[in-house]
Amino acid sequence: MKVLLATQKPFAAKAVDGIVKILTEAGHEVIKLEKYEAQADFVAAVKDVEAIIIRSDKVTEEVMAAAPKLKIVVRAGAGYDNVDLEAATKRGVVVMNTPGQNSNAVAELALGLMIYMARTQFTPATGSELQGKRLGVQAYGNVGRLVGQKAKALGMKIHALDPFLTDEQIVAGGADPVHSVEELYAASDYLSIHIPALPSTIGSIGYDLITKMPKGATLVNTARKEVIDEDGLLKALEERPDLKYVADVMPDNYALLQEKFGARVFATPKKMGAQTSEANVNAGLAAARQIADFFATGNRKFQVNK
Ligand code: 3PG
Repeated sequence: MKVLLATQKPFAAKAVDGIVKILTEAGHEVIKLEKYEAQADFVAAVKDVEAIIIRSDKVTEEVMAAAPKLKIVVRAGAGYDNVDLEAATKRGVVVMNTPGQNSNAVAELALGLMIYMARTQFTPATGSELQGKRLGVQAYGNVGRLVGQKAKALGMKIHALDPFLTDEQIVAGGADPVHSVEELYAASDYLSIHIPALPSTIGSIGYDLITKMPKGATLVNTARKEVIDEDGLLKALEERPDLKYVADVMPDNYALLQEKFGARVFATPKKMGAQTSEANVNAGLAAARQIADFFATGNRKFQVNK
């Protein structure tokens, strides 16, 4: 089978070598499309392929229509909001992710961003410490739980909201459970967002919620920019000069936020949460194994469009 590795943001060489090894040893051929400039390049590359490995690359209806032999798409990572699941299901294409494989990298970055903001973006201005501060974790899944546990080791007090977990599971994960998003925001000196981008979550974090945060709070977004209502964020930062926003997912209105609020906001230029050699290897190799296994045995364990 032909497997396309389509990564606009390429994996580390070690991960690419591992992917190629796993798939060629399983009898497949790997084609690489890295650092491509336009979506049209992606569309043009899928003509003969049966499988695609992606990161945040967009698998749209157009991509699938251009790939008549396509059987499986594996998102090497957690969030699959970049894949048109409906179009895939309609065409009988299996979509999988590789949950948990890059979580540690994202969790470490979330902590790094908190420290960066607490220490005034590494300027000589007097900063503050994370120890003793309250951290709210919105969604206590693979990444959220790691953020909570690492933050606890720094002396933070952790509480978490997750509608898919019982209180016992949240406690077992090292956090105190809270039961409403308002309660979570109101009690968080730092609030780390780990919800996926879904129709129900897009734009869900706006003025009302952000202004519930206590004095001097920092909102940390290593999830998706779409979950923030950017007008609401702007209004909240305007009214509350004590609040800060830091993100691994640059807001569309970032230039305006920077102009208005300077060092109270920071966003990485390109999503880098999962961009470590370790995470690339973990997620990339898992994706390759899942494809080899799917073609060999029909295993669909990580299918997300069932
Ligand atoms: C994910 O959903 O796994 C992360 O956002 C990482 O995305 P990336 O592979 O594009 O860096």
